[in-house]
Amino acid sequence: MSPATPPPVSPSRLVRALGDWQRPDQPTYRALAARIRLLLLDGRLAADTRLPAERDLGTRLGLSRNTIAAAYAALREAGYLTSVRGSGSRLCLPGGERGESDLLRTSAIDFRRATFTAYPGITDLYAEAVERIPDHINESGYDIHGLPLLREAIAAHYVGRGIPTTPEQIIVTSGAQHALHLVTHALIRPGERVLIEHPSYAHAFDTLAAGGARLLPLPIEPEGWDVAAATELLRRARPSAAYIMPDFQNPSGASLAEEDRLALVRAAAQAGTTLIVDETTSWLDIDRGERTGLAALSRDVVTLGSLGKVVWGAMRIGWIRAPRPLVDRILAVRSGVDLGTAILEQIVASLALRDIDSVLGFRRTQLRDSRDHLVGLLNEHFPEWNTHVVNGGMSLWQHTGTISTLALADAARAEGLAIIPGTRFGVDGAFDNYLRLPFGYTNADLTAGVLALRRAADAVGSPSAQRRVFEPVV
Ligand SMILES: Cc1ncc(COP(=O)(O)O)c(C=O)c1O
Repeated sequence: MSPATPPPVSPSRLVRALGDWQRPDQPTYRALAARIRLLLLDGRLAADTRLPAERDLGTRLGLSRNTIAAAYAALREAGYLTSVRGSGSRLCLPGGERGESDLLRTSAIDFRRATFTAYPGITDLYAEAVERIPDHINESGYDIHGLPLLREAIAAHYVGRGIPTTPEQIIVTSGAQHALHLVTHALIRPGERVLIEHPSYAHAFDTLAAGGARLLPLPIEPEGWDVAAATELLRRARPSAAYIMPDFQNPSGASLAEEDRLALVRAAAQAGTTLIVDETTSWLDIDRGERTGLAALSRDVVTLGSLGKVVWGAMRIGWIRAPRPLVDRILAVRSGVDLGTAILEQIVASLALRDIDSVLGFRRTQLRDSRDHLVGLLNEHFPEWNTHVVNGGMSLWQHTGTISTLALADAARAEGLAIIPGTRFGVDGAFDNYLRLPFGYTNADLTAGVLALRRAADAVGSPSAQRRVFEPVV
């Protein structure tokens, strides 16, 4: 079966995806073409996507139709666009080159996901949950707040961490991604500013941008945050919200230092900025140790949680912990989106929280083994890469020296390996020389993947490939 044609990209969506694309050192048409190519290669635009009509995009960007026509012509000439009279211009990949969405269909080893397979006790948890179904048979299941039993278990978990929480403050969602969507739409109006760590979780950029947020990137180093820089950015820009991952940030693995937590919460309060704290990765501690949850430091913090990384992503269970008045606003948004989360999974989640200590014990051992295996492989096969060893999370954020990961992704595909170019974790084409390497795979897959990556890096590093990568795009 041939893959379905992706929907056309509207002028407004394309303008949001383009971000800050102008380059002082390049003619406008060329910078525009280069940015569209980047979006295609790192998977933000799929091959076969129809671009907006030249006139419509020109109007939206405040540019002449001729400039857009020149950008499209340059893309066409370089093999990234086909135009058929009457059916518009569609993106395409020239021979040999592959975008991320194309990699998805064809690779044998897939290093694109920072996830693990299910917790081995999951079958027993489901069996136990099925036995409990009769207790819920009289409920309709149309419950946008979430099963009381699960909300109580989640609230108790916060209380155990020193964060006073009532079940009314919890909304059960279909994963943390859904939670972020709901919070974005309840909190942020189009055009408002939102601080985001840079790099950050790829789909957070998508969700916030789709909600019309103007993103303010805050650089994060592998060692962690520069809180003075964050405070200054908050003070100057006064964003409506800040989306942050204080524990084992995805993709860098960095954590906010214990001594900086209160300073950040205070700086946000002074700037009138709501902190949206994504704790999806916070359970992935390998050898760091417990730190204070930001919600323990301020009542105004909104926290997102998920069982996706530690129990099983396929359950699609996440949640929001928010101040009570915001809960009502989020629920009002939710009723226009969906009408609740599947009840069996909510029962399983409540049982998984009961057993959370053994779940986390199992994951910790697994994370440590696979991290150490991957680090060992990189030290052996990429001695020229300086590998920063993370103390938690599910991936390494590897600097690739002079190698472009857009080019590496293409070469890796030829070796049967799918990777995501680093640009997917940033805005405006940043992080092309970074690679997120998740370690949630078997040792055999990690070994096969790193060997394939080595062959790909050698191919990209060859003089002919380097010429191709650094040629002007158009
Ligand atoms: C930081 C972060 N937030 C949210 C999500 C989405 O989580 P869920 O599977 O619960 O929707 C992920 C998944 O990768 C993540 O890494």
